[in-house]
Amino acid sequence: MKTKVRAVTSGKISNREKENKVLARKAASEGIVLLKNNGVLPINKKNIALYGNGARKTIKGGTGSGDVQERHSVSIEEGLEHSGFIINTKKYIDDFDLLYQSEFKKWDENIQRLAKNAGPNEIFEIISKNQFHFPIGRKILEEDIIASNCDTAIYVIARQAGEGKDRRHESGDYQITEVEYDNIKLIADRYKNTIIIINIGGMIDLTFVDEIQGIDALLYFVQGGQEGGSALTDILSGKVSPSGKLTDTWGKNYLDYPSSDTYSYMNKDVTNEEYKEGIYVGYRYFDSFQVQPRYEFGYGMSYTDFSIKVKQIDVKKEDININIIVQNTGEKYCGKEVVQLYVSAPGKRLPREYQSLVAFKKTEILKPGEEHEILLTFKLSDVAAYDEEHAAWILEEGSYIIRMGNSSRNTKQIAQVILEDSVQVEKATNICKVQKSLNEIIPPTFEWAQADPGIPSFVILKKDILCKENNYNKLPITTDKTLRKLVHSLTLKELTKLIVGGGQSGKNKNLTPGAVGRTTSALWKKGIPNINMTDGPAGVNVQQKSIVTSRGREKYLELPPFFNYGFLKKIAFLVKGNEKQGTVHYQFCTAWPVATLMAQTWNLDLLQEVGKGISKELDEIGATLWLAPGMNIHRNPLCGRNFEYYSEDPYLTGKLAAAITKGVQSIPGIGTTIKHFVCNNQEDNRMYVSSDINERALREIYLKGFRIAVEESKPLAVMTSYNRLNGIYTANSYDLCTKVLRNEWGYCGLVMSDWYSTGEGKADYAACAKAGNDIIMPGDAKARKAIIKSIKQKDIEIEDVKRCAANVLHLVFSSKVYTEEND
Ligand code: BGC
Repeated sequence: MKTKVRAVTSGKISNREKENKVLARKAASEGIVLLKNNGVLPINKKNIALYGNGARKTIKGGTGSGDVQERHSVSIEEGLEHSGFIINTKKYIDDFDLLYQSEFKKWDENIQRLAKNAGPNEIFEIISKNQFHFPIGRKILEEDIIASNCDTAIYVIARQAGEGKDRRHESGDYQITEVEYDNIKLIADRYKNTIIIINIGGMIDLTFVDEIQGIDALLYFVQGGQEGGSALTDILSGKVSPSGKLTDTWGKNYLDYPSSDTYSYMNKDVTNEEYKEGIYVGYRYFDSFQVQPRYEFGYGMSYTDFSIKVKQIDVKKEDININIIVQNTGEKYCGKEVVQLYVSAPGKRLPREYQSLVAFKKTEILKPGEEHEILLTFKLSDVAAYDEEHAAWILEEGSYIIRMGNSSRNTKQIAQVILEDSVQVEKATNICKVQKSLNEIIPPTFEWAQADPGIPSFVILKKDILCKENNYNKLPITTDKTLRKLVHSLTLKELTKLIVGGGQSGKNKNLTPGAVGRTTSALWKKGIPNINMTDGPAGVNVQQKSIVTSRGREKYLELPPFFNYGFLKKIAFLVKGNEKQGTVHYQFCTAWPVATLMAQTWNLDLLQEVGKGISKELDEIGATLWLAPGMNIHRNPLCGRNFEYYSEDPYLTGKLAAAITKGVQSIPGIGTTIKHFVCNNQEDNRMYVSSDINERALREIYLKGFRIAVEESKPLAVMTSYNRLNGIYTANSYDLCTKVLRNEWGYCGLVMSDWYSTGEGKADYAACAKAGNDIIMPGDAKARKAIIKSIKQKDIEIEDVKRCAANVLHLVFSSKVYTEEND
């Protein structure tokens, strides 16, 4: 039997690449948030002075597994020049290049030194912990200003982060440096128009904007993927009106966030992370504790103005449907608006947040004067709170106030819904017990719900709301008869091959060069092929050019960057191939905007389209699972992987993940892997930290988004996280992997562990099977042996192994690569 490689053998730019390029540019431009504009934008001049470390070395995304090997990335400099802008600060930009090269060389030498005696798996961790510190650049000189000979300056502040390390609350990272401060002050003074671009996958301290006079405009560009430079130019030139909205609350100061002084390394304890803020994350905190943010959740300006008016409100049982008319009331620019609905719930017995997002929608492009009608719907039970004492989701009696607007703080009350009696919406069971009790913060008041006089009022009766009961009985191995028969026919050794991944290299039935994981190929002769998994979330992360030898082995045509380090150089000959050894395969995948930028579009249709674009790439290269989207909550601005995640809000996160999943899964047999389940909100010491959290916050904030994604879009896979949760590794948690995911949410897909999260001192191999974490990734012989031993010692039951194996087989048999061959 032969290895099958689906990747193309032509290196020419394909139609798929061209289509995705257009879509990536659109997605990036729709997500950019205009934070401040005193009229200088859009720019109507051709000559520009461009400064800052992100001018030419524009950062397209974060580092680590979330990176993408795209064909070409458009920098801000290139984007501007392509659309006819003339940049007169080349000397400054060239000088930055030289500095960058010398800093990179120093970093590279240091990594080579540190990695000298490290094993292949350790290299990744060494690089993660010693990330390249993106240089800042030199001071702007008088001659730069004179040479630029223009009145408009753009300054790009860039920072890079990535997995394995949290961002630092210091100058050069969260704070701007003295050089940046002085440079911005100088240009704000010397140029008529000064525009600041933030090219960062997360927040920075913007105090300088208050202190420095003369900053005219501020754009949160985030990191725009391969088309970032073009997308930003579309906004700067006015070709596209900004329509992005923040998906996080930007505090005035880092210390304004409730987790600020204890987060990660901030309190020097990276082993136990206490979630003392409970449900008060993001705007739930700022609103309830009356802290004035710098920019509120949902905020973003446009070049035009809109009016938002209610046309009709209709309440049927517990369904609330609101028809809204949005009009572009400006005279010059087209634009899109995002309508947002928030609800304040009564908190008599359980303290509630001031408000929470319950629905939103982005309009089509509206021309000046044009109107658009949208429909927003939600159920009252969507705002239920979790009562730990009774292990139930409840709605308390009283007035639920609905607010509508275009940001969380620019809303007006449009109606109240009165619930006559308290209702239990869902009966659950207590999960994930805390190790020691946590004293959560409590807001000064819960008396939010004061209805404005004259707003329409609707009554919902207790009987209008159905109560869901959950069943926590042990799950059958599988309900599929054929699969059951097959599973029972396999030996223990064969079963363990299925529930441990197929490693990171070797001969495979299906081959996607550079795929980061796969299921086993060892049962190939029994008609069970392997399937492949590739990273995300900023695109499909695989090797661009590879050779597949006549014996079915993959080799790199060009070595990936990490092979420069230490001893890896010595084994390069094993992995490097040449054209004579076999066929060259090309996998030019698209680098999309990072997740936060994509989220800032608030455009579910667009995310679904992006998902479709991604599925075409997965299909072309023969991969079944995309290891994305990342759904962790932006709990604290310093999390090193925030760029891979969407928002501080679970509802928004869940809807976005569901939308992209629907897109990816529009090709049957190809799917997403929503990750990292759950509370993986810290990068320092990520494999050992315990997220210590009360059940209510766990359910209302951290699990809620996953639930929405599971129920709405049925992702093919879920990835558990590196961290422990209340002391227990998530891959070993029956509460999470079975009770919550399968018993409560009805999940039927595959659950996998994160890479190298199991083993000595980490999650226990065999306990994964018992918990319902079906497959250990990337997988090795050690894991298989440990599971066999545990079965023999009766630590786990063979049924547990069979259940996991059935879930793996179910995915393999429903994968597109399998069905195509067996039709
Ligand atoms: C990351 C995952 C990723 C996996 C495979 C891990 O380090 O946490 O998000 O999917 O590697 O690359």
